[in-house]
Amino acid sequence: MKRKIIVTGGCGYIGSHTVIALIQNNFEVIILDDLSNSSKETIERIYKITDVKPKLVIVDLKNDFETKRIFEIHKDAIGVIHFAAHKAVGESIEKPLVYYKNNLCSLLNVLEAQNQFGIKNFIFSSSATVYGLPKKLPITEANKTQRPFSSYGNTKKIAEEILDDFTKSKSDFSAISLRYFNPIGAHESGLIGELPNGIPNNLMPYITQTAIGIREKLMVYGNDYPTRDGTAIRDYIHVEDLAQAHVIAMQRLINNENKTVLEFFNLGTGNGYSVLDIINSFEKISETKLNYEVTDRRAGDVPELYAEVELANKTLGWSAQKDLNEMISSSWKWEQNFRKKINKVLDFSIKKTQD
Ligand code: UFG
Repeated sequence: MKRKIIVTGGCGYIGSHTVIALIQNNFEVIILDDLSNSSKETIERIYKITDVKPKLVIVDLKNDFETKRIFEIHKDAIGVIHFAAHKAVGESIEKPLVYYKNNLCSLLNVLEAQNQFGIKNFIFSSSATVYGLPKKLPITEANKTQRPFSSYGNTKKIAEEILDDFTKSKSDFSAISLRYFNPIGAHESGLIGELPNGIPNNLMPYITQTAIGIREKLMVYGNDYPTRDGTAIRDYIHVEDLAQAHVIAMQRLINNENKTVLEFFNLGTGNGYSVLDIINSFEKISETKLNYEVTDRRAGDVPELYAEVELANKTLGWSAQKDLNEMISSSWKWEQNFRKKINKVLDFSIKKTQD
């Protein structure tokens, strides 16, 4: 019998890539998603890629009664990977209560349901944002966490603290918190990728949407940072590499290989690239000229952030396999495929109206 994993937020960007990796590693997947920032169509796309259609349960995890009802049906699951959360940094500063309520109530309800039905293994989707403004680079997991600038970031930090307390209070519950640096890229098939709601906040989707003509101009937030070209440096990581790390982390918990009840791992490549590095590589790979302009720094941005990834390399036996070119070319392929498909649908409906 296949081992069953519940993936909350499994229709989202990182969630959907992880679902594919789980299926390809012979797990049965149940997706819980409210589709607030994703679409049901993801299931069809996962099916095209894997030949398996994961079960989707549409549920608002803030509803504790519903959450428990669904967990009871799937109490034979051996683990949960929890992605479901709001993630727009800017929006979270405008609507802190929405973010605290959504991200933390969902987490509490999932943990309570796991507790009630004895599902012992939990992987948490965390972020490098928990390190705040780093004093030393590269950032190791031993770095003290600091209060993040945004409410979104703070939900991740508080969630890790909740996990710390909860895992200490239980003898039979283990968790791993995976701290992502900057996930970009898309599935190599071009069928699954990042689909931000409205105007993208993040660099990569903004670049691809500008290149395809949906956005007029990319604004580069600051070129007066103390970095080699003045623009901010980040550790970009391919989403398919991230997905693999979740499978490995879950296997670690299932096999009781974890050293402590709550472990933390940085997920990055350990390499830092500036905004201009990304723009230049994109222009080369896509053979398009990007319309961009340098403007003021964005509030809350740190000049430089990249990971020390030795712990994940040594302990999980995981390391990023895909380089910056693969990250950028897959993002571009996904954007082009997706827009082609939308245009086809639009052409079809225009024709139908004319008929
Ligand atoms: N940038 C631009 N123009 C844009 C968008 C971004 O110049 O239109 C710059 C940013 O200023 C930053 C870099 O590109 O220097 C990367 O920005 P992103 O928004 O893509 O990513 P961040 O590093 O700001 O945020 C990411 C995740 C967050 C997480 C944070 C943790 O998206 O979820 O890392 O550090 F909280």
